[in-house]
Amino acid sequence: MFDALSFVCSLIFLYNFAMNKGIGCAFPNFHLQIKPGGITKPCCRFIIDDDLARMGGNANLSDYLTSDYWSNLRKTLEKGLKPSGCSKCFNEEDSGQFSMRLTHEEAEKKLDYNTRENIDLIDLEVGFSNICNLACRSCDSNLSTRWYEDDQKLTEAGILERGRPKVKIKPAFNDLKNLSIPNTIKSVKFTGGEPFLHKELPIFLDKMVKMDISKNVELRFCTNGTILPSDQIIDTLKKFKSIDFSLSLDGIEKANDYLRYPSRWDEILKVIEKLKALVKEDRRFSITRCTTVSIYSLEILDKMESWWNSFVEDIPHEKGKSIYQMVHAPSYLSPEIVPKEIMEEFDVPASVKNMFTGLKSGKETLNLFKTYTQSLDELRGEDFENVFPKLSKLIDQYEF
Ligand SMILES: C[S@@+](CC[C@H](N)C(=O)[O-])C[C@H]1O[C@@H](n2cnc3c(N)ncnc32)[C@H](O)[C@@H]1O
Ligand code: SF4
Repeated sequence: MFDALSFVCSLIFLYNFAMNKGIGCAFPNFHLQIKPGGITKPCCRFIIDDDLARMGGNANLSDYLTSDYWSNLRKTLEKGLKPSGCSKCFNEEDSGQFSMRLTHEEAEKKLDYNTRENIDLIDLEVGFSNICNLACRSCDSNLSTRWYEDDQKLTEAGILERGRPKVKIKPAFNDLKNLSIPNTIKSVKFTGGEPFLHKELPIFLDKMVKMDISKNVELRFCTNGTILPSDQIIDTLKKFKSIDFSLSLDGIEKANDYLRYPSRWDEILKVIEKLKALVKEDRRFSITRCTTVSIYSLEILDKMESWWNSFVEDIPHEKGKSIYQMVHAPSYLSPEIVPKEIMEEFDVPASVKNMFTGLKSGKETLNLFKTYTQSLDELRGEDFENVFPKLSKLIDQYEF
């Protein structure tokens, strides 16, 4: 269906081409992602190769952008060529989707494509480690230590090759105290693991305060909403330009407890109410609901949406936004694996449908989903049928 949102997206896409923005990418000029384990990437979509895997450990964050790897990447992109690391974006465009390369709002704001000679680290994404207290259904051991045991059991039982050995992932920085953060930095997104569990966080924030750049830096925390930052951290945060708590909420009530195991919705509510109180008392704070859309979401997105609308009713609109992000792996958790007839039983918002990649539904993938769900239910003493009765029944009754 060609609705208003699709129309706007098409206009953005056409505008980009009209402005000769169809080639190249601005990300390697201003952005750096540092993942748990110390892997560095030009953006979160980039597929790492052996050379990139060997990089990491630079004491000066700007060194990545001026490295031969980043320079060659920029040259290749500027020639209009398509580096293999960028294939996710180019493949999306080839199949008629909108890629991050062309539509990322921050990329557009922060750097005009006509001034690509600017090479300054402006925007940083950092996950200090994979230490996390939750084991959400869509996540895995690479990003959560809490997942180690279940991933190990799934693999050992030969149920699913999760390929996630119980090996502790190295922290992102070997020597945080001597790390040099460039004063060009304008925004930092913290992810993880769970950032509010990371002992590196206060050290990193204090560094920016001591450098006297904090008042110009926008912070964003991807957080699971189970941990209230300490008063000390909150005091430090108040020294920054703006602070957004991006609350990863995939469902409410029992759907939350199932999808974001072993969190409890009542406990999350207590924490996020306090974060909302901060938004009310200090205009620099905001909250964003960040929902990862998976096959499970089909049955619960509408409830989630109406709960959020009432939750943010008493704060200014721009301080309580919401975004959806599509589950990117494993493919058997994508909502697109359900057959068309099942999909039609749910009222999926247009903004979510626009993120579909054209992945085909099929018996084999749906069986993988069932195996994963049943196995994890057994390990965790949970019950898919009880939490998602409509989806469960439709899947059970479907005959290929
Ligand atoms: C890995 S978490 C780390 C930060 C923090 N622990 C949190 O949950 O917000 C970052 C984001 O990735 C999302 N996520 C988890 N599994 C995902 C998947 N398979 N595909 C896409 N996003 C995923 C989470 O819901 C969260 O919004
Ligand atoms: S809270 Fe975040 S890092 Fe932890 S398991 Fe959930 S999605 Fe993964």
